[in-house]
Amino acid sequence: MKKYTEISDIIQLSKTIEEAIELKKNPFQFSDIGKHKTLVMLFFNSSLRTRLSTEKAAKNLGMDVSILNVNDAWDLEFEDGTIMNVNKSEHVKEAAQVISQYADLIAIRAFPSLTDKEKDNSELVLKSFEKYATVPIVNMESATAHPLQALADVITIKELKSTSKPKVVLSWAPHPNALPHAVANSFIEMMQNLEVDFSITHPKGYELDSNITKNIEINYNQEEALKNADFVYVKNWSSYSDYGKVVSEDRNWMLTKEKLGSAKFMHCLPVRRNIVVEDAVLDSENSVVIQQANNRTFAAQIVLKKILENS
Ligand code: CP
Repeated sequence: MKKYTEISDIIQLSKTIEEAIELKKNPFQFSDIGKHKTLVMLFFNSSLRTRLSTEKAAKNLGMDVSILNVNDAWDLEFEDGTIMNVNKSEHVKEAAQVISQYADLIAIRAFPSLTDKEKDNSELVLKSFEKYATVPIVNMESATAHPLQALADVITIKELKSTSKPKVVLSWAPHPNALPHAVANSFIEMMQNLEVDFSITHPKGYELDSNITKNIEINYNQEEALKNADFVYVKNWSSYSDYGKVVSEDRNWMLTKEKLGSAKFMHCLPVRRNIVVEDAVLDSENSVVIQQANNRTFAAQIVLKKILENS
């Protein structure tokens, strides 16, 4: 693997999932592969799971890790040809090349603005680092994608599924804030690569990018969509057509134990209790969110390992 900025960077998905599950059994079996190599993690936004699991994954492979909260550093300019006479102190052209001298791999988290659809879709931050850095790039959640989360999700489904073709439903849920589309986008893309009966349910107005959802079934009736599901993945996202807006906070879309039935409950976390999902679900044995979060380490570890093997 040359980089991991999108799911299509995985060459053999099934094999990669199996390898991640094997790594989980013995996380230290490749503890020399990253010796004398450094992962630099750049955070433009907050994180709990991605930060700690990716750091743990790198250390399991023997890597050194440096973490930079970019907001504590110089404010970076990403546009070409700008006269930098306002508040941006350094251009990504220099920053990416400089960081590449300290890093063998650069991992980046940079959320969307949710105000400028075109700019967010252009993935300016991630693409700029891909363009100017001289080492491989890993996406730790960008404006439109969260491929490390999606890999952990699919590992979790593979571990827990009891039928060869489980029914998986992605359900929108209410949230007071406008949230990105990245987790939903990457989960959808991942499901399109898997042997699953997959559908999406959300209120009207929350249609995601049709270039991502393609011809996947969308049901505007949540209760009907969730019937006989094996896995229910719940996530809020803001409107894509009315870009970045909260067009409905309909509390009826909160996931309840009754709606979940016997399905497994999935969520990337963090999650707002009794807004997105009721306590009775999160505190039940049907919730697999902790296992999902644990699998973030092994998703990151298999990705880092494959990139190190290639370089
Ligand atoms: N799921 C996830 O990416 O969690 P963090 O935002 O805490 O990293």
